[in-house]
Amino acid sequence: MKNKVNRVVLVGTGFVGSSYAFALLNQGITEELVLVDVNNEKAEGEAIDMSHGLPFAPSKTKVWSGTYADCSSADIVVLTAGANQKPGETRLDLVAKNTAIMKSIVGEIMASGFDGIFLVAANPVDILTYACWKFSGLPKERVIGSGTILDTARFRYELGEYFNVDTRNVHAYIIGEHGDTELPVYSHVNIGAKPLAKALETKADYKLEDLDEIFVNVRDAAYKIIDRKGATYYGIAMGLARITKAILQDENSILTVSTLLEGQYGQEDIYIGVPCVVNRDGIREIVELDINAEEQAKFDNSVKVLKETMAPVLETLK
Ligand SMILES: NC(=O)c1ccc[n+]([C@@H]2O[C@H](COP(=O)([O-])OP(=O)(O)OC[C@H]3O[C@@H](n4cnc5c(N)ncnc54)[C@H](O)[C@@H]3O)[C@@H](O)[C@H]2O)c1
Repeated sequence: MKNKVNRVVLVGTGFVGSSYAFALLNQGITEELVLVDVNNEKAEGEAIDMSHGLPFAPSKTKVWSGTYADCSSADIVVLTAGANQKPGETRLDLVAKNTAIMKSIVGEIMASGFDGIFLVAANPVDILTYACWKFSGLPKERVIGSGTILDTARFRYELGEYFNVDTRNVHAYIIGEHGDTELPVYSHVNIGAKPLAKALETKADYKLEDLDEIFVNVRDAAYKIIDRKGATYYGIAMGLARITKAILQDENSILTVSTLLEGQYGQEDIYIGVPCVVNRDGIREIVELDINAEEQAKFDNSVKVLKETMAPVLETLK
């Protein structure tokens, strides 16, 4: 049976998970927040530390370290648990390792009787969200990946800086794999109510290469941050909090998340980042942008690369 209050269970209280939990508390997004980690002491320490900030929070949140049994009445379970790539390890090794972790975690969560929404952030996020959907047996609408929400945020930030317009007034999307093959949808960029071509007229010193540079900064942002501080977590944490809010407050907000395509954008049987309407039921619908031929070719390539990476682990998903 569902609680009368909103409950979020977070699995994985590492850099991303703990930053996300902190963002939830600071924005008063949920009434209950349960922290679960294979390292129980870490989850416990985080719960105690965060509880001590509650006198300064905008609303009451009950935070505790719990177990998978707490998922039985959860509205959302957020998965940020996973191994990171070790030196000498290939991306495929990581996929196999994290798929195995995903299988055991999702099995335990479903055994609790969980019947809410999964939000997956662990990498490679598109593949792990597909795996979560298969392992859980939940409807596709209720298994969501963070997809390109962070990449889209980086894109909006970079465009806002370039045009000197508040990033919240920049509407733009990065779609595709959360990774090297993602692409900017320049045909649908809107800067402070102006389409991109009009906005560019305001830039006397504009060069075509500027747009390429903006996208390269977005695509390679994670490498730059990891080189300097070892991991990225604040941006994705705020993105996950944004998705959580859109779900719990039934917002019908458009966010670029990873979802199952069934013919949209000419593709099927793949989880990948595209704009979606998100509300209390999860994904209400996929927004199908009218992308141009060049963008479609890049999107098709992104799907192809993801499917190739997934192929060796598909057996374990059966
Ligand atoms: N989607 C995105 O945009 C995005 C951005 C940044 C990071 N990430 C991904 O998020 C994940 C977490 O990153 P991080 O920096 O927080 O890593 P981290 O190593 O700091 O944290 C991972 C946590 O998961 C826990 N864990 C591992 N196996 C577990 C299991 N079987 N059950 C329960 N808990 C388990 C660990 O104890 C640890 O606390 C990684 O996969 C990373 O690549 C995604």
